[in-house]
Amino acid sequence: MTTSSLDAPDQPASGAPRQPLTISVTGCGYLGAVHAASMAALGHRVIGIDVDAGKIDSLRRGEPPFFEPGLAELLADNAATGRLTFTTDASAATEASVHFICVGTPQKRGENAADLRFVDAAVAGLLPYLKAGDLVVGKSTVPVGTAQRLAALVAEAEPRATLVWNPEFLREGKAVQDTLQPDRLVYGMPGDAAAARAAEGVLNAVYHQAIKAETPVVVTDYATAELVKVAANSFLATKISFINAMAELCEAAGADVTQLADAIGYDKRIGRQFLNAGLGFGGGCLPKDIRAFMARAGELGVDQALTFLKEVDAINMRRRVRMVDLAREELGGSIVGRRIAILGAAFKPDSDDIRDSPALNVAAQMSLQGAQVLVTDPRAIGNATEKWPDLKFVETVEEAAYGAELVLLLTEWAEYLALDPVALKQTVASARIIDGRNALDAKAWRAAGWTYRALGRR
Ligand code: UGA
Repeated sequence: MTTSSLDAPDQPASGAPRQPLTISVTGCGYLGAVHAASMAALGHRVIGIDVDAGKIDSLRRGEPPFFEPGLAELLADNAATGRLTFTTDASAATEASVHFICVGTPQKRGENAADLRFVDAAVAGLLPYLKAGDLVVGKSTVPVGTAQRLAALVAEAEPRATLVWNPEFLREGKAVQDTLQPDRLVYGMPGDAAAARAAEGVLNAVYHQAIKAETPVVVTDYATAELVKVAANSFLATKISFINAMAELCEAAGADVTQLADAIGYDKRIGRQFLNAGLGFGGGCLPKDIRAFMARAGELGVDQALTFLKEVDAINMRRRVRMVDLAREELGGSIVGRRIAILGAAFKPDSDDIRDSPALNVAAQMSLQGAQVLVTDPRAIGNATEKWPDLKFVETVEEAAYGAELVLLLTEWAEYLALDPVALKQTVASARIIDGRNALDAKAWRAAGWTYRALGRR
């Protein structure tokens, strides 16, 4: 049975939905696949829709098209209940009353601005199937002003449907946990008070478990909700670049950025999280989001307000160049023809995502500058080989390190942190390591006879 969104199901005392909703999720990538499986886990009936038949086939088989801890289990459990289905047929959305838009908003080629073509296509694809009382819920990260524009399209297609903006804050590698137990929920509502009230009831029914757990809910307007997301990512990027700027200072002054981060992090107003100095941020979110934010600020005539993000971006990109320089320094002035092992290809551990990966950027720079680079990663080699066919990838640390004159740790996978420096010393030609993530136990590596260097440390 289809539930009208304006008849939002009441919440029973237990917090379980008295009347589960039928939900469509358009876009089954990192965000959408996790969101679809998580909504099914909350007891709703979910139809995942994507134009990519390969992705849909793989999700139907219960195999996530990317690596995300916990997702395979969630897909299997919920497919077995019959609550979670996947299709390429957009018309399947007819059965649902709540429609999540979870497609990507990458950076436009050659520009800083966000490319909204997938969001526009997802909404356009949904419009013919909207019914009275339906709720369209945008989760993608979009430039401020987008929701207002899309709301007009929704109203034109079905005046009794409502659009809300409900940004997602999940981290890759922790996406399931972040979706099921979010730090907060943000509801960006239309100006019409009755529609906003009804939409709030439906969203509370969708997220009944988080609501029961008294997760803070910020109910606001479209523009604020859109801005919350990019502001949060800009803040996180700024925090990382701040500590990396301190790392530059530490290198110049002979100080230690990890101790500095610990010391300032004890101040509760500052906090230690996101103060890990090293190779900086990458991935499909932080870099493109701060650039799209600057572009949008320019369009709004307030570019000066975000000029600092240019510096945040520049500090971040400088770390990648510094890593190559440090390697050159370690190898006595030249990397040409030198064997270098690179541990890590993913932009962060527990992910196979290589979008704007700092590790692969460094590997490519070194390879172009004449070094013989062998890259390994526990999960990302498939994606990396496809994107970077000119780089050489190997399956294991031992293969990468065999005969290497220098080892670079560029993605801090747990298994790399657990490496035995005594054993690895037998494999390499010279026991030199640069810790690009300040994640290894420097004392243990030095005690095993390695020359240990790191960004931002003596
Ligand atoms: C980021 C945000 O953390 C999420 O809240 C947001 O929802 C998401 O973007 C998004 O917009 O969808 P994510 O890109 O998955 O999540 O990864 P983060 O954990 O934020 O890490 C981003 C990058 O910063 C990684 O390359 C990581 O290695 C780097 N980083 C992180 C540091 O260099 N130092 C730190 O202290 C922390």
